[in-house]
Amino acid sequence: MASETRLSPNNGIAFLQGFLARPKEVGSIIPSSRFLEKKLVDIAGLATAKVVVELGPGTGGTTEAFLKAMPEDAKLLAIEISPEFARRLQERFTDPRLIVWNGSAEHILQALDEHKLEKADAILSGIPFSTMPKEVAVNILRSIRESLTPGGCFVAYQFRDHVEKLGTPELGPAEEFSEVRNIPPVKIFRWRR
Ligand SMILES: C[S@@+](CC[C@H](N)C(=O)[O-])C[C@H]1O[C@@H](n2cnc3c(N)ncnc32)[C@H](O)[C@@H]1O
Repeated sequence: MASETRLSPNNGIAFLQGFLARPKEVGSIIPSSRFLEKKLVDIAGLATAKVVVELGPGTGGTTEAFLKAMPEDAKLLAIEISPEFARRLQERFTDPRLIVWNGSAEHILQALDEHKLEKADAILSGIPFSTMPKEVAVNILRSIRESLTPGGCFVAYQFRDHVEKLGTPELGPAEEFSEVRNIPPVKIFRWRR
């Protein structure tokens, strides 16, 4: 149901432009690889999820992979802080399961409430925890904890392990995975509520 393939050069250029304009917020010069997308789908159990939240969808490569994996009656709430990326996502996808919310991941519950969605079965995040102020990172982790349904999981993919150090006091110990076929290799952390 996604309306465009992730190989569009326009998306790659827009992603790079976003990085050049806001390097700390975007945190990477290229989008995630297909290897990483596939691993995230499996680790987060998206094939059986009903409400999924994506934090930091960027230009939508991961969003497309998540939508492909999700059931027909599921919903994906994509929370993106950049108005430009949010606008591109709205234009890129026609899938009725996707809701794009332009704002900060500090306010997940507000976004779920505005769209009358239940708490999330899975929250996936590629936002760079290592370059944001600690106070914002902790606010986001608390927002994640409040927004997960019992048994739901939070999956963070990162080049560094800041998110694990910050997340443990808020969410408990994480399970750790990795994907070395990504450029650069990425660590994946999963917490279950
Ligand atoms: C590394 S990019 C990930 C893009 C895409 N998910 C991927 O894996 O290719 C990080 C994204 O997080 C967004 N972002 C950063 N801080 C955010 C926040 N507090 N709330 C929501 N999105 C945020 C950035 O604008 C950027 O689109």
